[in-house]
Amino acid sequence: MPNKSLLILGDIMCGIVGYIGPRKASPILLKCLKRLEYRGYDSAGMAVLNSSLDVIKDSGKIDEVDTKHDFSKLGGKIGIAHTRWATHGEPNMVNAHPHTACNGDLALVHNGIIENYSTLRDLLESEGHTFQTDTDTEVLAHLIEKFYTGNFMGAVSKALIKVRGTYGIAVIHRNHEEIIVARNGSPLIIGVKDDETFTASDASAILEHTKKMIYLEDKEIASIKAGKVTVKNLFDKKIDKEVEEIGWDLDQIEKGGFKHFMLKEIFEQPESLRNVMRGRIGKTIKLSVNGTLSDCRRIIIVACGTSWHSALIGRYLIESIAEIPTEVDYASEFRYREPLVGKNDLVVVISQSGETADTLAALKEAKKRGAKTMGIINVVGSTIAREADTGIYIHAGPEIGVASTKAYTNQLVALMLLALDLRQSNGKTLDSNIISEIRGLPEKVDHVLKQNKKIKAIADAVADHSNFLYLGRGINYPTALEGALKLKEISYIHAEGYPAAEMKHGPIALIDENMPIVFIANKGKGYDKIISNMEEVKARRGKIIAIATEGDMDIKRLADWVIRVPETMDEVSPVVNIIPLQLLAYYIADRKGLDVDKPRNLAKSVTVE
Ligand code: AGP
Repeated sequence: MPNKSLLILGDIMCGIVGYIGPRKASPILLKCLKRLEYRGYDSAGMAVLNSSLDVIKDSGKIDEVDTKHDFSKLGGKIGIAHTRWATHGEPNMVNAHPHTACNGDLALVHNGIIENYSTLRDLLESEGHTFQTDTDTEVLAHLIEKFYTGNFMGAVSKALIKVRGTYGIAVIHRNHEEIIVARNGSPLIIGVKDDETFTASDASAILEHTKKMIYLEDKEIASIKAGKVTVKNLFDKKIDKEVEEIGWDLDQIEKGGFKHFMLKEIFEQPESLRNVMRGRIGKTIKLSVNGTLSDCRRIIIVACGTSWHSALIGRYLIESIAEIPTEVDYASEFRYREPLVGKNDLVVVISQSGETADTLAALKEAKKRGAKTMGIINVVGSTIAREADTGIYIHAGPEIGVASTKAYTNQLVALMLLALDLRQSNGKTLDSNIISEIRGLPEKVDHVLKQNKKIKAIADAVADHSNFLYLGRGINYPTALEGALKLKEISYIHAEGYPAAEMKHGPIALIDENMPIVFIANKGKGYDKIISNMEEVKARRGKIIAIATEGDMDIKRLADWVIRVPETMDEVSPVVNIIPLQLLAYYIADRKGLDVDKPRNLAKSVTVE
């Protein structure tokens, strides 16, 4: 595990930088902002305080926005800048940060999600505030404006007390030579150097200027002046902070101290899971999908690759929770097979990128045939997100490693929420146990991640094998498929996923002492049958790696290696069970010295057939 102070987990959406000092701010901010490009983004913007408060922002890459609008024309020595990864509202010029309020006196950049933005927006509109964007962030700008009576830091504190959710923010105001920054669940760092002060969501942005950092904690707010920093809590109580010196290089910091983006993204999952649930799960489910879902008679889920594995689990969830017949198809097959779909069908397409050519074509085919369509998508404003009638964003944040990890687990939670929402729409009561199990997933995933050293040791022991078999049953049969896909795409080892009961219909012929077999064998439906399958493998001297429930002692008799996962209900178990398989694939590929983040022949977004 990397140094705690370097972890940027929890800040998986956007990037913030700020500068105050004796030099012109815009060139410094531009360079700092470009240091955050590796994180992925869709828009960029900057606000600088001069005699006026000037803002430049647009969708596109930083260089494109700069070429079009010229950041250098912003004079002034105090400024903030932002790269946006859209979560609420499409990536366009209006929704890009910084945001202003009604009178244009302040500008604000924000990372995170404001959960209660819609209630706050209604309230502010009823008080006469006019909104310009579709973002959750804009409510913060208007709230600060509402509370401002001359005390800038006080107004920001009052605004933050009203919001629920996560934030890292930087704000400037026409009447004040300072930047106010604050955080809650989304990191904010302050860099100090003589008569200059910097701020950023990620140390890599400002490292070339200073290695001396102050790390804000949740619910802390700071006033940053040139060479002076004052930190308080939201109730005006001063807090003494230590200045810490960073001893890491840039590459380590960009990856949050992890060796690869894939590993960083695996470890981000507790936080990305919180993001997909945020504001959507309570006693009831609030998904804000457009149109009624209660009249859909059949659901067809189409997707490719890892997203197709989510779809298979989605079928299990929707049929068992919502009791609606559900089919799953590869997008590439669906689009060419004259599918019998029509107006009583809901076609759900799942895609991390929202740009996969086959999935987009399948969506268009479904629309042509009169079906209602829904996208379960990560990239906001992507082509599939725009084409679908309605949708659920999974809020996993940018996924840079080609092998999908955090997008997969967030897709699974989105499908759980969809299944519950469909049940609710049909007037049926919800099982509170499932709801609390879903809410408990981030902690359980965190618990599994803590076994990374043990999983690495297993990877070291089995990395030299050239074939693997992954077996699971029921809702964890797709977990076996996904585990095998992870291994083959990054380690180039041949791996097959199978429903465990199918083993005796063919794959059993492959088993000998040279074949590691990964069993998803946690307690739940089908456990006894999985144990029988393990006996069959053991009898043929196959090497068994078992994913097993904590406290299950029987399994030790059969398995050569056991990876323990916390007890869960079957319905949510695929989220917990895939974590050790992601780590196993990662450590095997890394041991082989392979380019884990960019495996050969693969692209992150497959936009061709
Ligand atoms: C996942 O690890 C793969 N790289 C790949 O199978 C991917 O899931 C597939 O190409 C679909 O992509 P999408 O979710 O962006 O549509």
